[in-house]
Amino acid sequence: MFLGLDIGTSSVKALLADGEQRVLASHDVALTVQRPHPGFSEQAPQAWVEAVISAVDALKATHPKEIAAVDGIGLSGQMHGAVLLGADHQPLRPAILWNDGRSHAECAELEAKWPDLRRVTGNKAMPGFTAPKLLWVARHEPAIFAATRLVVLPKAYVRLALTGEAIEEMSDAAGSLWLDVGRRDWSDAALAATGLSREAMPRLVEGSDPAGRLRGDLVARWGMAKAPLFAGGAGDNAAGAVGLGAIRPGSAFLSLGTSGVLWATTDRFLPNPARAVHAFCHAVPKTWHQMGVILSAASSLAWIAGVLQTKESALLAPLGDKPAAPSPVQFLPYLSGERTPHDDAVIRGAFTGLAHENGREAMVQAVLEGVAFAFADCRDALAAAGTEIAGADVIGGGSRSRFWLEILANVLNFPVYRLADGETGGAFGAARLARLAVTGEDPLAVCTPPHRIETIEPDPALAPAYVEALARWRALYPALRSAAG
Ligand code: XUL
Repeated sequence: MFLGLDIGTSSVKALLADGEQRVLASHDVALTVQRPHPGFSEQAPQAWVEAVISAVDALKATHPKEIAAVDGIGLSGQMHGAVLLGADHQPLRPAILWNDGRSHAECAELEAKWPDLRRVTGNKAMPGFTAPKLLWVARHEPAIFAATRLVVLPKAYVRLALTGEAIEEMSDAAGSLWLDVGRRDWSDAALAATGLSREAMPRLVEGSDPAGRLRGDLVARWGMAKAPLFAGGAGDNAAGAVGLGAIRPGSAFLSLGTSGVLWATTDRFLPNPARAVHAFCHAVPKTWHQMGVILSAASSLAWIAGVLQTKESALLAPLGDKPAAPSPVQFLPYLSGERTPHDDAVIRGAFTGLAHENGREAMVQAVLEGVAFAFADCRDALAAAGTEIAGADVIGGGSRSRFWLEILANVLNFPVYRLADGETGGAFGAARLARLAVTGEDPLAVCTPPHRIETIEPDPALAPAYVEALARWRALYPALRSAAG
């Protein structure tokens, strides 16, 4: 029996899978994000651990026998968050998250200080990544920086709390900007550029390697027969890839979570930092990936539902299954700034094209289309890095909307695949990594593709209208940029 724990931004999910890779149960616990200042995004690390414990408690209440038989635990985590720990391994401040834009000035400083950054890390310094956040803390909170003994990413903090061991794996470590991504090791030069050394970093393993055992008091609390082994785990996108079997070069998927990701697996380290493509390690050995990342995907829909004080499902229902034409309204989803391709922490979103006759439906369709157009920018950035995508599985909360999938196929001009609910997402991939750590099986044998329940092809009748709509939408960013100052 295997447990996958996904430490997301809007929730923590615990998922129980059996030896046949069947999902027996899962439980979600909601999380909140604190925004103490415009552009800031923080969470208390302790809240992740509390949410994990209550999610597993809930699974134990319904599946006590299965929880007692857990052999392995895998972790999937929101990437890039900076968790600063003191000598006692307690957090010194709230974690600064992946969608926090405060460190944009420090990115330029970091690139100037260490000109090799793009070559070694494969990435441009962007405020979402961990290293520039540490420069920000050093400048604005020097006492906290001075007290920092260990810096970990969100899921490594949860592992530390659950096992007592400071261990990180390659896919998440690659998003710190402290990893030599081609060599799969910490880069001393990268660490030195932020005033740190290896001593402040957890030990590195591959995502499918063993990485600690559950603490005795939790083994007893959950009535387990023996202390389960942890796997290294994965950053949430790499965990999603493992869940989809996307570990073979050329496999691709699209994630419609709080953030949006267009992913392609590669057999080599293939960077294109100029277009803000992310080039990271995968969670299985000798494998890498590229991704385009947008910061507000399903969270754009959540945002408009919040503004209109209604549920997302109530906004989607009147739209039906298929668009008849692009919305006359345009939306730019830059609610937290944007990464791929603009790398712009300061830009904010916009509606344009509003007229008296446009109401809620046109605006909601515009939100869904704005996210799809942002994915078209990612598609083109990946193409410039040598990766053409022929079709993509879609995961994440947004994938439940058929209307959104239709828009994505039309805008991206490749088929998208709708998957059976449940066996997708980071928690399922994490459970697979747990199995790999326990059994030592070949990842290719375990990471099989998902069951596709539907292929949604681009609609040729709508293609010209969407090409035109994308061109109109693309003209808006430069205008917004000059207005943003
Ligand atoms: C990837 C990224 C996001 C987070 C979301 O670079 O920042 O997808 O991993 O949790």
